[in-house]
Amino acid sequence: MDILFWHPSFDVREWSELLARALPQARVRVWQPGDEGHADYALVWQPPVEMLQGRKLKGVFVLGAGVDAILERLRAHPGMLREDVPLFRLEDTGMAQQMQEYAVSQVLRWFRRFDDYQALQAQAQWQPLEEYPRETFTVGILGAGVLGAKVAASLRAWDFPVRCWSRSLKNYPGVESFAGNEQLPAFLSGCRVLINLLPSTPDTVGIINTALLSQLPQGAYVLNVARGAHVVVADLLAALDCGKLSRATLDVFSPEPLAPDSPLWAHPRVAITPHVGAVTRPPQAVEWIATAIGQLEQGAQPGGLVDRQRGY
Ligand code: NAP
Ligand code: GLV
Repeated sequence: MDILFWHPSFDVREWSELLARALPQARVRVWQPGDEGHADYALVWQPPVEMLQGRKLKGVFVLGAGVDAILERLRAHPGMLREDVPLFRLEDTGMAQQMQEYAVSQVLRWFRRFDDYQALQAQAQWQPLEEYPRETFTVGILGAGVLGAKVAASLRAWDFPVRCWSRSLKNYPGVESFAGNEQLPAFLSGCRVLINLLPSTPDTVGIINTALLSQLPQGAYVLNVARGAHVVVADLLAALDCGKLSRATLDVFSPEPLAPDSPLWAHPRVAITPHVGAVTRPPQAVEWIATAIGQLEQGAQPGGLVDRQRGY
């Protein structure tokens, strides 16, 4: 079995060793320009167009959860990947726990007003602030898939009221579910904290804009750990500056890295991390991919199949 590998920054040696252990029958090679040799599978992140073009592969595995980059490239170069080649993405593989850590720590930071106390400390002020009532500190999650569901469960464990919004209704324990554009206003109207975990698709690009933000309660908080393309930055800044939003924490940007002259860097109520919300963990990812390849070889359908039309 021949596996082609392409990633702009991953340590190829580590991946090759892990793959050799998990799939001893596989020959793994890093794709080089001009390589048109036989391959059964490809493991990629933002692959060059020529790498996959015309290949009759048994499967392509994207080495992350989001498939927006490869699908955008595919829209621009429709011949880049044959229609009959299944495209898979990673489901969880250690990312859900990282997202839970990020979301819970952020919500607790806002709920316990640590940023406000930090500002008071800077002025040497000893001033207990009014507590926020937990029962109205509702956390709403845009996107209730693999990661959104786990993040919702972790916030429920802290007894926050939690709601989610997705295309289809969910039945997650203790989580109020809203679905579709018609239920978006009702969802938003109760969100003291809005966490974005949507995929970036033509339907969701720019969704965090003035129209959406204006439907949140006054003084809401926004955490974007999905994709930068979801946020209209000028609208977010305007919502922060007029007091509609208390604070925003952003892990993802468009483009990345965030430009040095972006007003987001210096904004006093914006916190920034460099797209580290949930990184791909090679051992778990390889275990997942090896299991999926085993299933494909047996004629079974693994999880993580991307619907190219739907965009995720
Ligand atoms: P997923 O399992 O595919 O879940 C996507 C969720 O979004 C689903 O609940 C889906 O609804 C919902 N959705 C999609 N389009 C929608 C629309 N137009 N309207 C309403 N709901 C819609 O994805 P995931 O594994 O949870 O990952 C989510 C995203 O997180 C990824 O796409 C990626 O961009 C981002 N991410 C970021 C990092 C980071 O480091 N910051 C790391 C990993 C992932 P249905 O359930 O009804 O289909
Ligand atoms: C990271 O952003 C991913 O989509 O895995």
